[in-house]
Amino acid sequence: MSSISFIGLGSMASAIAARAIAADHAVELIGRDATKTQGLAAALGGGARVGRFGSVPTGDIVVLAVPYASAVEVVTEYGAALAGKVIVDITNTFNADLELVTPEGTFGAKEIAKASPDSAHVVKAFNTVFGHVLTQGRPLDVFVAGDDTQAKASVSSFITSLGLRPLDVGGLEMARYLEAVGPLTIGLAQNGVGFDHALSVSIFS
Ligand SMILES: NC(=O)c1ccc[n+]([C@@H]2O[C@H](COP(=O)([O-])OP(=O)(O)OC[C@H]3O[C@@H](n4cnc5c(N)ncnc54)[C@H](OP(=O)(O)O)[C@@H]3O)[C@@H](O)[C@H]2O)c1
Repeated sequence: MSSISFIGLGSMASAIAARAIAADHAVELIGRDATKTQGLAAALGGGARVGRFGSVPTGDIVVLAVPYASAVEVVTEYGAALAGKVIVDITNTFNADLELVTPEGTFGAKEIAKASPDSAHVVKAFNTVFGHVLTQGRPLDVFVAGDDTQAKASVSSFITSLGLRPLDVGGLEMARYLEAVGPLTIGLAQNGVGFDHALSVSIFS
């Protein structure tokens, strides 16, 4: 059992946290609205705790479950409170026109890593999986990118514990391609496949 903190209370936080509770992890929920945070903790059950926004999260793994537009600001606001943490960046970085909002030459995970304390490790994961599909309990593939081997191993082991299959795509630089896959999932959804799908890899040997 590990302790996992979630910053953000939306559909992704709630879907991953529900699976984490089912896997017997200790879950801490952190939102900017205390009432809303208590409401989600009560709805999830399983002893989910309410953390204080901006304080040091209890989890070694901190899932950053806010929109990309707020992510760098949130990490900057946390500052040293995220020292030594494994930050899981689940953000998608595309807008309503399916264009990436990050400037040429950079990508979301890189900007989040730049804003994080030096001792924190950013791992990109979960951004290619829909929240509502995660709630269905299926054994999905979750792509993982990160530079720190130990941090990536710890996120991969967390993912495995949720009944999901972690697939390592390489260092954090590879997160730029995971972010480009975000619009692909919407394109698939809007052009025949529908939103009730997940990307997976078939391995033939
Ligand atoms: N939904 C999906 O299927 C999906 C799939 C893959 C990846 N993602 C990514 O996962 C992340 C979360 O998505 P979601 O669908 O869960 O979003 P959501 O339902 O809109 O929830 C976002 C959460 O972030 C919080 N938040 C926003 N700005 C904040 C700030 N400045 N400070 C503190 N909290 C802030 C919101 O707080 P309030 O409740 O107070 O507004 C809310 O709890 C996004 O980056 C998204 O791109 C989503």
